Amino acid sequence: MASVDMVESNEMVEDSVVSCIPGNSQFCVGLKRSIEELKVPLLERDVSVVAVHCIGGGGKTTLARALCNDPQIKGYFKNVIFINVSQSPDLKGILETMWVKILKRNKAKFQNIEDGHIQLQQQLLMQSEPTLMILDDVWSKEDLDELLFEGTRYKTLITSRDSSIIPKTFSTEVYQLPLLGEQDALSLLCFWSFGHTSIPSTIEVNLVKKVQEECGGLPLALKVIGSSLNGQTHVAWERAKNKISNGKIISSYHEEGILKCLKSSIDSLDDVAKECFLDLGLFPKGKKICVEALLQIWVNFRKMEWKDAVDILFKLAGRNLINLSSNQR
Ligand SMILES: Nc1ncnc2c1ncn2[C@@H]1O[C@H](COP(=O)(O)OP(=O)(O)O)[C@@H](O)[C@H]1O
Ligand SMILES: [Mg+2]
Repeated sequence: MASVDMVESNEMVEDSVVSCIPGNSQFCVGLKRSIEELKVPLLERDVSVVAVHCIGGGGKTTLARALCNDPQIKGYFKNVIFINVSQSPDLKGILETMWVKILKRNKAKFQNIEDGHIQLQQQLLMQSEPTLMILDDVWSKEDLDELLFEGTRYKTLITSRDSSIIPKTFSTEVYQLPLLGEQDALSLLCFWSFGHTSIPSTIEVNLVKKVQEECGGLPLALKVIGSSLNGQTHVAWERAKNKISNGKIISSYHEEGILKCLKSSIDSLDDVAKECFLDLGLFPKGKKICVEALLQIWVNFRKMEWKDAVDILFKLAGRNLINLSSNQR
């Protein structure tokens, strides 16, 4: 059976860089298991950073927000702070907000990012209130370095679509957020297309299941495609199924959702990585690309060092812009 969770509102924080669960209750599925799995490192293990990784639209922010409201988390961490970091963060502003939220003092005025980091770190070593800092949607390692701190009962949970920015230390634990299972995915699609979690008798069960399969358990896709089919006829569902199986866009809403997701991943790349990503267009559509061939292009035509080419390959894979597989076919 699909598990259905309702996330309630949370008035904990209100700054512009700090966002909380939206005012209205939100329909959520399959969160319970992930919350329980995340609570192990957060409450029981001696780790200081827990990183949630998944592709864009996979439900990281939704999970992090739900975690803020978990009674055990709220009971253990007297202070739970949620900060949306995003792609081009105002790091000084975030550090100033952290100062106010962690130390419960008046607004700080730091000279620059480095000054803020040093001052906050000094204060944190002297305070022991259990604090969970949630840094949502971190895009770069450089940003993360400025926002991570050590403290006696201070833990950080980060969410990111890029696994390469996650620190590889003994005190960091990575949680790979899985995509939704079949039942949860079906409930979510039904919720957005029919307003309830089951398939109505007016539509063929297999048709809805086929559309759900094509969305591959990605919450954003299920929500966007479900919404675009809301109130639509059997014929529209049939058309949508055929379009999605052929990799086509089924509505402008669908296109917007996908492009937004993809665009933000591409925008965050540096210029060289962007150029390398565009080289993928040289290969035939829908066919797997041999890694060796791709690296050879970057080394021979872009005059890159082999090591740098491999780094770019992993950077693109880390942002789910390419999928690395060992399968030859
Ligand atoms: N478990 C879930 N149940 C229902 N809807 C979800 C779930 N996870 C994500 N969503 C929906 O999918 C969309 C993308 O989720 P989000 O948490 O923003 O993904 P991410 O932060 O990984 O990009 C949001 O509109 C959210 O409401
Ligand atoms: Mg997010």
